[in-house]
Amino acid sequence: MDKLNNFYKNKKVFITGHTGFKGSWLTETLINFGAKVKGYSLKDSKISFYKSFVNFKKVENSFGDVSNYNKLKKEIEKFRPSIIYHLAAQPLVIDSYKEPHKTLKSNTTGVINLLDVVHKSRFVKSLVIVTTDKCYKIKKKIKFYKEDNELGGYDPYSASKAAAEIIFFPYIDLLAKKGIWAATARAGNVIGGGDFSENRIIPDCYRAIKKNFLILRNPDAVRPWQHILDVINGYLLLGMNLYKFKKKFCGAWNFGPDQKNKSVKNLVDEFNKNLSKKILIKVLKKKNKAFKESNYLQLNSKKARKFLKWKTYLNFSKGLSMTASWYEEYQVNNLSKKITSKQIKTFFKIK
Ligand SMILES: NC(=O)c1ccc[n+]([C@@H]2O[C@H](COP(=O)([O-])OP(=O)(O)OC[C@H]3O[C@@H](n4cnc5c(N)ncnc54)[C@H](O)[C@@H]3O)[C@@H](O)[C@H]2O)c1
Repeated sequence: MDKLNNFYKNKKVFITGHTGFKGSWLTETLINFGAKVKGYSLKDSKISFYKSFVNFKKVENSFGDVSNYNKLKKEIEKFRPSIIYHLAAQPLVIDSYKEPHKTLKSNTTGVINLLDVVHKSRFVKSLVIVTTDKCYKIKKKIKFYKEDNELGGYDPYSASKAAAEIIFFPYIDLLAKKGIWAATARAGNVIGGGDFSENRIIPDCYRAIKKNFLILRNPDAVRPWQHILDVINGYLLLGMNLYKFKKKFCGAWNFGPDQKNKSVKNLVDEFNKNLSKKILIKVLKKKNKAFKESNYLQLNSKKARKFLKWKTYLNFSKGLSMTASWYEEYQVNNLSKKITSKQIKTFFKIK
């Protein structure tokens, strides 16, 4: 942990999608490490949540679409970062069915634009592009998906991320020739405070605290849940190792939990257990078949464990108790800067 802390101190880091759920945690962690951070996101509804739990005054905030090549290039060139994290995307499967064109456009054009800007830059040293575990082609025979398994995607979101991965491949060498070291990071379903997206189970649980009941449509769906800080740790290790050790770390990396995957029902029960006022949970007998999403997905993360020395520190129960505390504090005054900072400092052992 100390290594990360020291490495990122004073480094210039550019983050796309910095106002989103993952982006906010990454931004706040890097601020705690003493990095100089600039973010680039849409001016969308995420901003008010971002402002409620990130020390945004310590960040250089810029706003624009990743599909806007000139704007993205201008903002990166003004800042001259040595490390870039690309998280900006339309990240929801259900929304991707509703708006396939928007999803495919932002999730692929953003990567194409960023790769070109980075390729033409003279200051970037490492680049991490965040995709997802859903970039794999689902095959009944595969129990744990490895980095070299076939890519695919039935829904527009998964397809857009598989496409982003394919677009990235030729750039590994193109960038390496210029001394820029790049990788993609594939993680599963992330839990933690600060997620307010529609149609995600933890934000649904938070909204249920107010209503006092929650309807579960796919209680048996199994996912590789993991806490946001474990995932952020993986991204930061990857960025640091690319910067320091170069070519050896280029390519794709899985980041999945080491415990057995749990169901949506397990997750909600554990979250509920940690609330001071319990939610009433109703399970719908009829499954939600309106939107197809794979029911079972597990990642093989041996590569990250072996070479990045990455591991998950927060098991299922610990991750959910931290998440429930976060939302309980947020519910009181719509501000969670204190608990966010405390969770980051405890996790990364920052004094
Ligand atoms: N949250 C998860 O469980 C999860 C799991 C796997 C992968 N991911 C991936 O992680 C990344 C971040 O996800 P998240 O959950 O934080 O999403 P989020 O919706 O909370 O945040 C998305 C961020 O991207 C920005 N953005 C979206 N479209 C943009 C565009 N066209 N131009 C510029 N900015 C744009 C938004 O303004 C916001 O800052 C995404 O790439 C997503 O696919 C997330």
